Amino acid sequence: MPNLAPRQAQFIQLHREDHAAVRAELIAGLLAPAATTSPKYLYDALGSRLFEAITELPEYYPTRTEAALFLEHASAMAALLPTGATLVDLGAGNCEKAARLFETVQPRRYVAVDISVDFLRGALQRLQRQYPALDMLGLGLDFSAQLALPPEVGDGPRILFYPGSSIGNFTPTEALKFLTQARAACQGGGLLIGVDLIKPATILEPAYDDALGVTAAFNKNLLRYINRLIGSDFAMTDWAHQAFFNAQHSRIEMHLQAVRDVTVRWPGGQRIFVQGERIHTENSYKYQEADFHALLRQAGFQNTHAWKDAQGWFAVFWAQGD
Ligand code: AVI
Repeated sequence: MPNLAPRQAQFIQLHREDHAAVRAELIAGLLAPAATTSPKYLYDALGSRLFEAITELPEYYPTRTEAALFLEHASAMAALLPTGATLVDLGAGNCEKAARLFETVQPRRYVAVDISVDFLRGALQRLQRQYPALDMLGLGLDFSAQLALPPEVGDGPRILFYPGSSIGNFTPTEALKFLTQARAACQGGGLLIGVDLIKPATILEPAYDDALGVTAAFNKNLLRYINRLIGSDFAMTDWAHQAFFNAQHSRIEMHLQAVRDVTVRWPGGQRIFVQGERIHTENSYKYQEADFHALLRQAGFQNTHAWKDAQGWFAVFWAQGD
């Protein structure tokens, strides 16, 4: 008897949140002379929805520019990328970007990776119904500190897919480490990655400080999340959103600035912020095309190719693993 049961996406949760470590890391950052928090705390449930709203803002050019590049260069990408590979979607979320690539790369298997399988479950199950012949796996993994894929991802070449210029939220040193690990993990396939390019501050800064105030809400929401994580008493009205291009470091910096003298308390500790003092919440590095090619080669990739929009604002790179 043939098995007529529809194929089900599989799910594996590997990441376990260490609450004590999260608390210790956050408090150490808040007590540092120049206070800082990891950008991962921008993404609780509301933060993730606010980020989705950011991608629809007229000022935030990366998402739509990258989507247009995938459409315009689909056949050139199809000619360079291997078919029948495992498509590994790093930071998959709603899986939409990768699904648009299925026609182009004809994957044998689709592996969606995000910090929690709970973020992936609904999207992957829907996608499995749409593509019943494609083998699908949802993986709950935090690859930001270490990109090591478990054996369940399977044999054969892998296309690692890392869109959205999320690489920009790593420091250049972390980016090189990530790319080196991606080179090792692709098993002779390669890396397809979106990268935001350097452009005038008059374009960059409004993208991170939009007129509607969505990015300001996204940034301030981090304080609500921290309140829940460490029991602190940050008040939204004490803080103002700041975003500017730091040309020396080729990065947009996001900060929260105290609008008055503020004492923030949490069980076991406190910090006094004087008016004007800031908490550094995110960096978003921008690259020159040539420098990113060089970084990919430094990480061990062989042939690299970039597709750019006419204004040279954003690039999608393909880097071959062998
Ligand atoms: C997710 N990441 C690539 C975004 C960026 O552009 O750096 C996060 C973001 N921060 C403010 N707006 C968008």
